[in-house]
Amino acid sequence: MSNWVRAHTNIALIKYWGKADEDLILPMNNSLSLTLDAFYTETSVTFDDALRSDELYLDDRMQDLAALKKVKTVLDLVREKAGITSKAKVMSYNHVPTAAGLASSASGLAALAGAASLAAGLELSSEELSKLARRGSGSASRSIYGGFAEWQKGTSHETSFAVPVDDADWDIGMLFIVVSDNKKDVSSREGMSRTVQTSPFYQGWLDSLDDDLSAMKLAIKEQDIHEVGVIAERNALKMHATTLGADPPFTYWSPDSMKAMEAVRALRDKGYSVHFTMDAGPNVKLICRQTQLEEIRTHLLNDFSESQLISARPGPGLHVVSRP
Ligand code: DP6
Repeated sequence: MSNWVRAHTNIALIKYWGKADEDLILPMNNSLSLTLDAFYTETSVTFDDALRSDELYLDDRMQDLAALKKVKTVLDLVREKAGITSKAKVMSYNHVPTAAGLASSASGLAALAGAASLAAGLELSSEELSKLARRGSGSASRSIYGGFAEWQKGTSHETSFAVPVDDADWDIGMLFIVVSDNKKDVSSREGMSRTVQTSPFYQGWLDSLDDDLSAMKLAIKEQDIHEVGVIAERNALKMHATTLGADPPFTYWSPDSMKAMEAVRALRDKGYSVHFTMDAGPNVKLICRQTQLEEIRTHLLNDFSESQLISARPGPGLHVVSRP
């Protein structure tokens, strides 16, 4: 039997931004995402008594201790649950269409949760896998599921996990505009922590979330691509507004991000239903009809190169795969 597990990345339409508990990774708010086909991570874990410490290989390169930190959190929880003490060798491959720095901790930590529990002989429910993945990286809790998933914030380790919302077999797609980033990175972990602690705009973000979330759920139920886009875009803009109020202030936007936003607005003027969202980096992700992905891509080729534009469709949840 194969011990390789694949998880696809997800993009939040209602963002997770801020933790109520940094150790347990309990979020301040519920979030809602779409899992995508285009990017995924495949991981295998082997517990081995002969190992003196945990080892992580990413795309065949051994990683340092810093990279191992999130991985070790998940491995320790699995060892505790399974009653084992052996160290683990973790092999992980990121499948990203271009070398554009789109590797995602969401797919990585979700695949790890699946592969580590499989290697330890644990048979976990999706809910348990979601909690496990969450402890590695919050957004990974949602990558257990295909289609739309909502991470319900909860108040403890046991009550904070994602659940499937709806499948996504309707006319929705995403198009990534990969833009250059010359700035020093503020990780999502650091960025959200600084924002919660110092931004006077953070409370405003929190206060507006219930409305965004319930409107988004309705739009998804009605398969209304326009409303999904409108709500996702305003939610993302509010999240990014909180960073400008932080101390010290920061932004994930680059000049090219704004160029991409302008291109989206120009497409709307042409009559397309297209909106954007952004995460803790300068790339811009478009939400549009799956059936118009290629048409929209062709328009964007006026401003961006072939390799900057990556189309994505709804993708599956965590699953075992065979690898040679
Ligand atoms: C902006 O899940 O990467 O992408 O829990 O600290 O590992 P940690 O953070 P992470 O944060 C993702 C933030 C976001 C929004 C989202 O995916 O919901």
